[in-house]
Amino acid sequence: MASLSTTKHAAATALRSFTGHRLACVAPTSFASLQQHRGQASASYTSPFEKRDTTNTPGWGKYASKKPELSNRMFQYFLAGTFGGLAAVGAKSTVQDFLVNMSASADVLAQAKVEIDLTQIPEGKNIIVKWRGKPVFIRHRTEDEIKDAEGVKIESLRDPQKDEDRVKKPEWLVMLGVCTHLGCVPIGEAGDFGGWFCPCHGSHYDVSGRIRKGPAPLNLEIPAYDFPEDGLVVIG
Ligand code: FES
Repeated sequence: MASLSTTKHAAATALRSFTGHRLACVAPTSFASLQQHRGQASASYTSPFEKRDTTNTPGWGKYASKKPELSNRMFQYFLAGTFGGLAAVGAKSTVQDFLVNMSASADVLAQAKVEIDLTQIPEGKNIIVKWRGKPVFIRHRTEDEIKDAEGVKIESLRDPQKDEDRVKKPEWLVMLGVCTHLGCVPIGEAGDFGGWFCPCHGSHYDVSGRIRKGPAPLNLEIPAYDFPEDGLVVIG
């Protein structure tokens, strides 16, 4: 038993001395390398919070032009003028293309004007033509109708207008056949004033197309028209 305990003690002693030797060998080396690493880090580290002079801007002298100021300015004006001119030409072309694209086509323009042969309309008669989707009344007025229309006191009218301001030739009355109340088409040669009568709500127009009675607020509208030659009227 004594020899067994002696053997254990010797083994423990040997193990302790071996471990201590290994630690003694390793520890100084690791400590030295750690110190060296710390030293390097502290030498290269720069804190982002340390105070620096931020007003110290770099000089631009080396980028500045060596030419005289007038020559530089002329060059800038030339560039600005050239690009401005190009931009204006481009914008004009774009707007022009847009407007041409949006404008009425040739067939629509052809419908925009209507030619009427007046020689086919007897005195004292109306015809109705279609222009831009609306009815147009053309009346060949008699001498008596013209006298009646011209003799009305315009102060008595709801929408005061002289007959001479509504016609280009007294014998020809050209106006839109759309009631100014709610847009019905009045009936010709009817009503209390020998002109037109709107049956929708009872508006009466005289032989000049002026409102005389009923709810319509305004005279019948006169469209653009012209007489390019005798016996011909062009509406539109
Ligand atoms: S629409 Fe003609 S009177 Fe009303």
